[in-house]
Amino acid sequence: MPSRISPSAPSAAPVFPVMSDFSARLIAWQRQHGRHDLPWQNTRDPYRIWLSEIMLQQTQVSTVIPYYARFLARCPDVASLAAAPADDVMALWAGLGYYSRARNLHRCAQVVVEQHGGAFPSSPDALAELPGIGRSTAAAIASFAFGARATILDGNVKRVLARVFGVEGFPGEKKVENAMWTLAESLLPSNASDDDVSAYTQGLMDLGATLCVRGKPDCLRCPFAADCVANVSGRQRELPTARPKKAVPTRRTWMLVLRDGNAVMLEKRPPSGIWGGLWSLPEAADEAALAERALAFGGDGAVSPLAPLTHVFTHFKLDIEPRLAELDRGVGALAALNDADTAWVALSDLDSFGVPAPVRKLLDSLQGSLL
Ligand code: ADE
Repeated sequence: MPSRISPSAPSAAPVFPVMSDFSARLIAWQRQHGRHDLPWQNTRDPYRIWLSEIMLQQTQVSTVIPYYARFLARCPDVASLAAAPADDVMALWAGLGYYSRARNLHRCAQVVVEQHGGAFPSSPDALAELPGIGRSTAAAIASFAFGARATILDGNVKRVLARVFGVEGFPGEKKVENAMWTLAESLLPSNASDDDVSAYTQGLMDLGATLCVRGKPDCLRCPFAADCVANVSGRQRELPTARPKKAVPTRRTWMLVLRDGNAVMLEKRPPSGIWGGLWSLPEAADEAALAERALAFGGDGAVSPLAPLTHVFTHFKLDIEPRLAELDRGVGALAALNDADTAWVALSDLDSFGVPAPVRKLLDSLQGSLL
């Protein structure tokens, strides 16, 4: 019996407007109006490009710049990063957030040294096999370092494509994302030189970061204004389609600021989970359990409240209830209590430890109030 298309068969792939000169227009725009002097540009060194792309995955350019410089001063090449102690890598990353990036970065450097003779592979597929490198990051590295004809598709690029080509649906949804990958690949320049490929990839990033921004896009300066579906139909605020609303759960934790003079006690967190491998304050699930921990650490059981704070992660909100407990043992006695997972640290020496940003904020405010 001949097969028939049933009414419930999946609908055909979406069709987007054709723009045969998209890449040429983007490259010309990037050369004239794009960014050319970011610290990770004007190099073909895959190590430097890879490091910048990992740092930039969830973090803004202005935040990344000082971290990038510090990181390169301490680890100028893949071999020095692979050989660095994990704690040093975490300390260099502390404050950038999304710490699995730092753990993967370290593992990736070790894999490149041990399995690739210290040289990053040049193909996007081989790069995407390495820890912490997804499809879009692999394409960014391969195009900037090796001139590969591969498309990126990060959040900024999804916004550009959704608007210019009128892609409907939340881009975090698999079906929409797949359609965007297909569209993005179809737009790559053909017969492009290495420089063209770099300018194209950078152009996608620059357009999304400087003109086609989330809040108020600067359509008057955009090279695609006349053809952009969102601009022509006044739908810039509706495209890309927003994530379907879901309540963000809240968790609550009690943190112990165990203080002796100018020193506090830090505990190393387990390697996985939030803030994995970072140094943080001892925690408990409620106030009584925290007081017990304070007793176990040699306090007298008295804890006093400090100002609560909230930290927002991607998938949940963390309400932090800090409690202060005081010891009076003196610095010499404290040093003897340190072990692999416990450290008494002077408040002025926190820079040498990888401390999560909200905990660091809490400790800095404490230092201010002690002076
Ligand atoms: N975001 C991701 N990669 C980037 C890059 N190379 N330059 C600027 N912003 C970026």
